[in-house]
Amino acid sequence: MLPYTLVIQHAAQVLTLAGGPTDRPLAGPDLGNWTVIEHGYVACVGDKIVSVGPMAELNLAHIGPETRLLDASGRVVMPGLVECHTHLVFAGNRADEFERKLRGESYLEILAGGGGILSTVRATRAATEAELLANALHHLEGFRRYGVTTLEAKSGYGLDRDTELRLVRVAREAGRQQPVRVVPTFLGAHVVPPEFKDAGPRAYVDFILREVLSDLKGEAAFVDVFCEEGAFPLAVARYFLEQAHKMGFGLKIHAEQLHDLGGCEMAAELGATSVDHCDYLTPEAAARIAQQSQGRTVAVLLPLVPLFLRQEKFAAGRAFIDEGLPVALSTDFNPGSCPSKNLWLALSVGCLKMGLTPKEAVAAVTLNAAWAIAQAHDCGSLEPGKRADVLVLNVGSVAEIPYWLGENPVRDVVIGGNVL
Ligand code: NIG
Ligand code: FE
Repeated sequence: MLPYTLVIQHAAQVLTLAGGPTDRPLAGPDLGNWTVIEHGYVACVGDKIVSVGPMAELNLAHIGPETRLLDASGRVVMPGLVECHTHLVFAGNRADEFERKLRGESYLEILAGGGGILSTVRATRAATEAELLANALHHLEGFRRYGVTTLEAKSGYGLDRDTELRLVRVAREAGRQQPVRVVPTFLGAHVVPPEFKDAGPRAYVDFILREVLSDLKGEAAFVDVFCEEGAFPLAVARYFLEQAHKMGFGLKIHAEQLHDLGGCEMAAELGATSVDHCDYLTPEAAARIAQQSQGRTVAVLLPLVPLFLRQEKFAAGRAFIDEGLPVALSTDFNPGSCPSKNLWLALSVGCLKMGLTPKEAVAAVTLNAAWAIAQAHDCGSLEPGKRADVLVLNVGSVAEIPYWLGENPVRDVVIGGNVL
């Protein structure tokens, strides 16, 4: 064994996220049953974790002059956060719509009037690639401060060939220019652009299948579609996902956000890696998804979205877990329904409004979030062989994580073995 290059030692608790099944996301009782090591360490060689255990078992023979020792006395050490659903790349903001919402207008009313997503589309189309990249890098820096070490980034504010390809390109370039790993998703089927207003959703989807998707092979692992009133109806969303699946893309869906249209079940039937939002998903449908997908489709819950849209209904996270559906939590960072990058706040609101326990919520922003973007082989838990993405928090126990509402508990961020 090579000498350790980094040892994070004397942690009050190491939240390993280890101990569950290795071939699928954590579900049911496993979600909250992973191992916590009291008074532990994490040892790394280069960009990989090589050993995790109690301090009493730390092998001093592997510690030499080249070993960096990071002291975590009295603190929690856990995997880097995995942010599995963001709309990272866009221009402008929608603070004006925030005020309209406060006066009582709804998200879908604003969209139907040509605002909402379409207003961000106008700003994004008008921006240069350099401006979009600068924005994305700015937001990634913010995420990194919150301890996010891997992040999914959707396109979806171009809705024409050139701009959509530009948004995926910018996401990839942003991933290269700073340490947070970026996983791009193609959300060309976000809403129908003005150019296809008369031709309709099916014609627009045919256009992106024909003209855009073939250029994204190897550039984006996933496609996504917004299945909702005012966006894409169930039949068109199904057709799009079926065709994209045939082309080799992984599948995701925005569904059951504002209505129950059956989008989550449909996508899970097609083998979707994740179904996202789920505020209107019933526990009965959640149970069917868990069974039908054999616990492989992850429900990505986005608790800051109903909060920000002034919606009473939050996803029934507790019931989903009890029905065996794997869940993850994310911010959904975007300029319309959640301008927050604070995944810790999402975690707390997931506990408060969706009924997750602190340990379940931690699993939902780490290992299960990694499963939701097919990265669990590489991140999401502290286990030998995974990338050395590790956080030292300014709290002493897992129970404190959701407790300090809205605070950023991160003291140190380690990405790929580098202390940033
Ligand atoms: O996940 N619901 C659809 N899309 C985004 C919001 C995009 C926007 O409003 O700009 C979401 O909430
Ligand atoms: Fe979203």
